[in-house]
Amino acid sequence: MFQALPMTEDSSNKFIKHDSQMLNQIYGTDGLSPYWVADMSFPIANPITKELSRLVEREMYSYEFDSQSVFSAIAQWNQSRHGLSMDTDNFVQVPGVLSAIALLIREFSAEGEGVLIQTPVYHQFRQLIESAGRKVVNNSLKLQDGRYEMDFDDFESKLKNDAVKIVLLCNPHNPVGRVWTQQELGMMTKIAKQYNVLVISDEIHADIVFNGHTFNSILQQDYHNTISIIGSPAKNFGLNSISNGYIYTDNPSLLKPIKTVVSSMALDHGNAFTTFATIAAYKKGLPWFNGFLAYLQQSVDWIEQFVALEIPQLKMFKPEGTGQIWLDFSTLKLSSEQLKALLVEHAKMGLTPGTWFGENDSNFYRMNIAVPLEELQESFARLKKAVERCDEIATQCSGNESESSGCCC
Ligand SMILES: Cc1ncc(COP(=O)(O)O)c(C=O)c1O
Repeated sequence: MFQALPMTEDSSNKFIKHDSQMLNQIYGTDGLSPYWVADMSFPIANPITKELSRLVEREMYSYEFDSQSVFSAIAQWNQSRHGLSMDTDNFVQVPGVLSAIALLIREFSAEGEGVLIQTPVYHQFRQLIESAGRKVVNNSLKLQDGRYEMDFDDFESKLKNDAVKIVLLCNPHNPVGRVWTQQELGMMTKIAKQYNVLVISDEIHADIVFNGHTFNSILQQDYHNTISIIGSPAKNFGLNSISNGYIYTDNPSLLKPIKTVVSSMALDHGNAFTTFATIAAYKKGLPWFNGFLAYLQQSVDWIEQFVALEIPQLKMFKPEGTGQIWLDFSTLKLSSEQLKALLVEHAKMGLTPGTWFGENDSNFYRMNIAVPLEELQESFARLKKAVERCDEIATQCSGNESESSGCCC
């Protein structure tokens, strides 16, 4: 069953989120709580640990993988959780979600052609597109009555005018936490169909969806020119460094070249760890996962209430899905340096700057909340105190006594 035990931290761990050099590079200090990497700080499900321990104790690492059993476990999970009918022959296994995206971009577009993304969006999308020599075409999300929405007029004009070959969708959306509805996906694919553009949907966060919302896969749309990277057990089961990813399409004319290129690079199977960890997760991990999701929901609710009562100057976009929250500090009216000082030096929180995701406004930050609630509570208490002192912090940071930030009004 799920237990929110604090992560054991010692020098033999090489967790990126705690890496002192990286923290110093990003924040100028490593003395803060790191919330900048989207991975959980909880012990994983016991059936997975048992399988991994079995492999280690066996002390033998002969070539070993069983893709069919892995695909069947994932198909069954998605059938019961999301009502998806998946054929095990239509999966392709790859080393991870990002490598899948990199490979699909190269396979289905040519140099200089456009790949559309919807900023603010997971920063690696832009990097993968640029490093493949493709053009990033931006269809920014729009904020409507405090909620992020797709801008369909702009979407259509970009497909029409910008030689867009691929739409790279993030569903659920990291960092803004939207879980796209059937209607939104229907509108999007209707336009994509009109311009015959391939839609690749990164669905790594598919299972982390909160009360009142439902995950809808791109595979459920009335459009066959679609590929889902139906994810991996990274985000839902905390297996981030047991790297693994699954591409899925029902379209044979897409599936065939994907299978060919993946096997030509000998990337088409996992290893003993990915195989047994994935099967254990999807076949035996449900009770743990339900506990994890309920815990995250409780944390989201606690943060929402705390912010409303104690830090009303802060806007939190309540996530519909994903293990992150998106925060807007603009009512504090601080410069980007002053806000950084407030967060890093005073609240001691290592949040991800929104600018990483293509957000122009430096008042936005993303926060990973898949950590023990007590830790979040301590951080938010520090944040509250920092916000209360924000005029003072702003003055210290700007060195200008007469400048009022307006944040404490
Ligand atoms: C939307 C999204 N896609 C992909 C990844 C990374 O996937 P992988 O580690 O399997 O390459 C992340 C990790 O945060 C993510 O949020």
